[in-house]
Amino acid sequence: MKKQTAKQDNLGNLKEEFKTESLKRISNPLLSWYDENKRILPWREDASPYRVWVSEIMLQQTRVEAVKPYYERFMKALPSIAALASAQEEDLLKLWEGLGYYNRVRNLQKAARIVTERHGGEMPADYDALLALPGIGHYTAGAIASIAFQIRKPAVDGNVLRVLSRLRADERSISDEKVKKAVEEELEEAMPTDRPGDFNQAMMEIGACVCLPNGTPKCEACPLAKLCIAHANGAEEAYPRKDAKKARTSEEKTVLLVRDEGKIALRKRPAKGLLAGMYEFPCLPGKVSQKEVVRYLRDHGMKVLRIQPMGEAKHVFTHKEWHMQGFLVRVDELEGKGFGEEVKDWIYVAPTETRERFPIPSAYEYYARALSMQRGKNLILEDKRET
Ligand code: ADE
Ligand code: SF4
Repeated sequence: MKKQTAKQDNLGNLKEEFKTESLKRISNPLLSWYDENKRILPWREDASPYRVWVSEIMLQQTRVEAVKPYYERFMKALPSIAALASAQEEDLLKLWEGLGYYNRVRNLQKAARIVTERHGGEMPADYDALLALPGIGHYTAGAIASIAFQIRKPAVDGNVLRVLSRLRADERSISDEKVKKAVEEELEEAMPTDRPGDFNQAMMEIGACVCLPNGTPKCEACPLAKLCIAHANGAEEAYPRKDAKKARTSEEKTVLLVRDEGKIALRKRPAKGLLAGMYEFPCLPGKVSQKEVVRYLRDHGMKVLRIQPMGEAKHVFTHKEWHMQGFLVRVDELEGKGFGEEVKDWIYVAPTETRERFPIPSAYEYYARALSMQRGKNLILEDKRET
């Protein structure tokens, strides 16, 4: 019995060693490929710790092409950690508007304040100190440490997990946090001592440009094709293994676009939870009829002059879907009326003011567009979801 366990352990060790040894072989072809093929990106041109940090946070849920204009604008508005630390929350949200996942930018600022207080205003050149900052997990700490400080730490995101899974025809599910951790450790073991930042970015680049998630990966252009087990087996698309996703909840709501001659009603969302602190159009739960909308507004003291259906819209968040219908309601006068408890948090703004001051989440894009309100200077829809 004992003998067999020892034998199994040996086999386990052998497998581990094989994994590390075969992984070590990716470094040379990967770096040569990167030197020839890397994209020129604003955060690669000047890889200061602050610039790398902001880029990595923006890139967490959004594609490179969509991030670029946001990045340039953000850096111009807040060129230093000190500027970020002292920015007004609403200016921050405005700079982030359209990128989604707004807690990312709140955490960015929290971390900037900590860096100012505890690290003399400079990003710490230390993986664990980076990891301790709000909004910085293993991936981001590894990316900043390696790209900005040449510290040998891996940066394993979804793209990198996919590449590694295919390379090794890895049967482990990448939905499992333990698997992610194990893969990080394996890559740390195998990554080169020189150029850790380029190594990590090259892995990301392969994931983003070659070893594509949907559709067929471009194996013919891949510098790792000769080493790739999934490719040798013609089974690229069988990897990475994942667990089935949890279903999203679905919510119906009626969006009220209530305006008088010059202003439109908005309200601020609660400070916690989905789209915290953003501005939205007032809503009623469920899909209610035109008549009920009119009754609701009248019951709250508004004089309804006209009402017009504005169509349906849908927005998909990570764990939730909103199914909306909207009504444009013209009322006599919004301001200065005591409309009662339920609507006391409404504010009335000129539609053009939303451009400068009131961050409206992309979930309402359809209705904001219909009102020709501008959401930020570059009207870009977020390409992934926001939570
Ligand atoms: N995705 C995340 N970080 C990246 C980087 N530094 N370069 C390219 N794509 C990325
Ligand atoms: Fe991905 Fe194909 Fe390259 Fe393997 S050979 S890593 S499947 S692109």
